[in-house]
Amino acid sequence: MTFADTRLEQREELDMPVGLTYDDVLIVPRRSTVTSRGDIDTSTQLTRRLSLRMPVVSANMDTVTESEMAIAMAQLGGIGIIHRFLTVEEQVREVRRVKRYESHLIEHPVTIAPDATLSDALEAMRSHGISSLLVADTQRLLKGILTSRDIRFESDLATKVNALMTPLERLVTAVAGTSMEQARDILREHRMEKLPLVDHKGLIAGLITAKDITKATRAPHATTDGKGRLRVGAAIGVKEGFLERAAALLEADCDVLVVDVAHGHSDIALRAVKAVRKELGDVELIAGNVATAEGAADLVSAGADAVKVGVGPGSTCTTRLVTGSGVPQLTAIMDCAKVLEGIPLIADGGIKVSGDITKALAAGASSVMLGNLLAGTDESPGVPLVRNGQKYKFYRGMASQYATINRKQKEGEDLLAGIVESIVPEGVEALLPYRGSAKEVLHQLVGGLRSGISYAGARNLAELRRNARFVRLTPGGMRESGPHDVKLV
Ligand code: XMP
Repeated sequence: MTFADTRLEQREELDMPVGLTYDDVLIVPRRSTVTSRGDIDTSTQLTRRLSLRMPVVSANMDTVTESEMAIAMAQLGGIGIIHRFLTVEEQVREVRRVKRYESHLIEHPVTIAPDATLSDALEAMRSHGISSLLVADTQRLLKGILTSRDIRFESDLATKVNALMTPLERLVTAVAGTSMEQARDILREHRMEKLPLVDHKGLIAGLITAKDITKATRAPHATTDGKGRLRVGAAIGVKEGFLERAAALLEADCDVLVVDVAHGHSDIALRAVKAVRKELGDVELIAGNVATAEGAADLVSAGADAVKVGVGPGSTCTTRLVTGSGVPQLTAIMDCAKVLEGIPLIADGGIKVSGDITKALAAGASSVMLGNLLAGTDESPGVPLVRNGQKYKFYRGMASQYATINRKQKEGEDLLAGIVESIVPEGVEALLPYRGSAKEVLHQLVGGLRSGISYAGARNLAELRRNARFVRLTPGGMRESGPHDVKLV
């Protein structure tokens, strides 16, 4: 090799693009017109058609999002994506729990026949997790209501429902189509908890409960569908059975599907996105994960309504170490955002502090997906563990060794058949400090984001993206950015 050749190689090396991530940059402060953080609007698009008041999505991981987390996320204006490491029935059950948690109107209230016994009624209440039943004949003609109050002092399980219920003559009902406001007035006037709705023939047309009205009033920014039910998403894979899973989730009124694989820029992922679009039509569809403009563009061409970006930034990820592949997250977001004009981008993984959320959104993301920051909360699956007097929660990468073993077990694979040895993990298992409720954690994160938007001279996420100017940091700048020269207490 000649001296000239060496110089050529060096030049090529210099031409190699630089990949930056959150810690490598800061947003330059700019003049702000904001007087209160409350004036800042954090609303955004999750997909082309679904909007969120809080640009945060909880990760589809088995130590982060099942129904409890999804309910908390939607109540706060974000959304949760139920993970796919469940049987179809289990995942559908989690989706149903979220959709049933609150609604303006229970369209199909559970009923019981007048000649059923108290024992039947108790069983129906237990299996549906409810405290009252509408009493109706087989045509769903309303006959009365049976509430926990009606049965409190009855010990004979053979007593018939019609001997215990509040009969139609003593029941206040309203006509089908009664609004939430009208229902609230009726419930208040009669000091009732439940208002059955009936059509002109007296057939049951729904049920409005005081509890649902209270829930809706307490969470005015919640992410809800047209019927006042919390919105929820669910992940699907790309291998055998993914279309059946997708169809079952949609049947349960799941609001958005996420085609989620580690390498989303692969033929198998693109084929899956196309198949969902072709077979299931106009569903809201997020796809990922990718880390380049080409990957993002291909997913959109295949039919994605939003693209999830992040290859290897996650706190439990070892993909970059194991495979040598990935793009530092801020650069990945900027590169993908270039080709995604009008199509929402979800920045997935690597968010450690609220400032990272501001940076992701300023770089072109429409929302961020969090695993680590939510896995330590009450709402994540599993109970806290105590180690040396400290509370922790378990968190694991979905490609970690034990997550993979558990998945294979669920799929019925024989673990003695050399399966364990064949696993090449791309993630780790960890303990995270217990953090209290998701609401408290998100309050801090969104408070930081609001402040960050105002520092950038913006009032909303569109302005943040337009106005933000990044400055790159040196190692000195990075050191200066955290607490230093003090003894932390
Ligand atoms: P954070 O940083 O919030 O990231 O913990 C959550 C995201 O990490 C991704 N993820 C993985 N990536 N191996 C990986 O390379 C894994 O085992 C793994 N598990 C989760 C995923 O995108 C998630 O939303």
